[in-house]
Amino acid sequence: MKFGFAEPTTPTAGAAVVLAVQERCLGPAAAALDQAAGGALTRAMEASRFTGKREETLTVMAPQGVSVGRILLVGLGKAEKIDALALQAAGGAAVAALVKAGPTEATILVDTPPGTALTPSLVAAELALGARLRSYRFDKYRTTEKEDRKPSLIAVQLCCADPDAARHHFAAGDRIADGVFLTRDLVSEPANLLYPAVLAERCLPLAEHGVEVDILDRERLTRLGMGALLGVAQGSIREPRLVVLKYSGAPDATDQRPLAFVGKGVTFDTGGISIKPAAGMEDMKWDMGGAGVVIGLIKALAGRKAKVNVVGVVGLVENMPGGNAQRPGDIVTSLSGQTIEVLNTDAEGRLVLADCLWYTQDTLKPRLMVDLATLTGAVIVALGHRHAGLFANDDELARQLTEAGTKVGETLWRLPLDDAYDKDIESEVADMKNIGSGRDAGSSIGAQFLQRFVNKVPWAHLDIAGVTWSKKEAATVPKGGTGFGVRLLDRFVADYFEA
Ligand code: BES
Ligand code: MN
Ligand code: ZN
Repeated sequence: MKFGFAEPTTPTAGAAVVLAVQERCLGPAAAALDQAAGGALTRAMEASRFTGKREETLTVMAPQGVSVGRILLVGLGKAEKIDALALQAAGGAAVAALVKAGPTEATILVDTPPGTALTPSLVAAELALGARLRSYRFDKYRTTEKEDRKPSLIAVQLCCADPDAARHHFAAGDRIADGVFLTRDLVSEPANLLYPAVLAERCLPLAEHGVEVDILDRERLTRLGMGALLGVAQGSIREPRLVVLKYSGAPDATDQRPLAFVGKGVTFDTGGISIKPAAGMEDMKWDMGGAGVVIGLIKALAGRKAKVNVVGVVGLVENMPGGNAQRPGDIVTSLSGQTIEVLNTDAEGRLVLADCLWYTQDTLKPRLMVDLATLTGAVIVALGHRHAGLFANDDELARQLTEAGTKVGETLWRLPLDDAYDKDIESEVADMKNIGSGRDAGSSIGAQFLQRFVNKVPWAHLDIAGVTWSKKEAATVPKGGTGFGVRLLDRFVADYFEA
């Protein structure tokens, strides 16, 4: 889908989208169109329950007096609450309605909602960003499609004063959306087609944006001594990989230590010998969601030429049962030298991350580390699908991440790390075990385990098990892979670390 910006014109063909604020109040462009159509919009609003609530839509078909096929009204919600997120939601709702309705082109007449300080070009850019984020589809494996389900909308034109400024504002968001789309693509792929070597290869095109891509294979991982990661990988015929992505955008590239983002990339998690129940196991194709976010984030940052140095590290394995799979009770030696008794092979993400975190802090010397992982089912019990779990050894870092998340609608909720949880992972025979003793505080115990592989560096762990995949659509997120985390971390970088 293409998005363009133009000077205000009277749309002649396709669909016109007009914005309405609450109390059924039309802005100037909408009012002009209403007048040309002999008051059809006002009458349609009065004849319906449309009040301009957030994401609410109303379609007026083929009104007399104007040549357009349909006019779509989209609610923006309460006037005093209209911000970037509300505009993105309206853009998303507009695209969703248009895709269902079937036109190939649409024009959005951008009115600046009364009472906002936003310029028309900013309003247009936010609408376009929301529209683009919602327009995502993963349909590469559908070879037939019913006529009424075929996507038809190909071009959306936003008309506003100063379209050049709008284009300029949209450019960064557009690159961020590219990153979000890459993440959604990766988590949507089935595990027979996307396994560690393939996921590593999908990083290679980032080189076009100046990203250095280093792919470590089993031999190198063995030489390094990544016993924890390799133990998980050994049950699968798919070879493990670790990918290091380096993007250096800081003006003085030599002496700025990088920000590090680390992702769990289990391309499929059967649970291993501690095998999972069959129901819902297909969800475990997106157990590489953390890695997907890291890769998408690097694409976003490099794409918009962020002025910062960043490294991404993703640990890629498949967790399978098999003749060579690791057994409950096995003891592995992690890269850090600490030994781990693997009492449940399904608590594999922390084993992979243990080595990735240690490798990152030891060899890349970052200023801070943020890891992302679909680590525990327990975080879904605690927080559902609304917030991701946040754990941090640094209050300032926790605050910055939380604020960035709130600004982009990817919210975090902080949960505790606590030395008290260390007791839960004490082992009789090794330095630690990979699970607690009961079912309590599962997410905190997982995070506390990870902390043992973090030294003095500020570090945060985002447990994204509940937010990586969505069974319901939201304004700017279709069903399926969400890309949650890309926008958040892009914003985190932009607000606190860009020169
Ligand atoms: N990948 C799962 C966590 C998960 C569950 C992600 C549901 C998304 C949806 C993880 O590897 C896992 O299996 N965790 C176990 C840990 C337990 C064995 C301590 C869990 O949450 O049950
Ligand atoms: Mn597991
Ligand atoms: Zn897992």
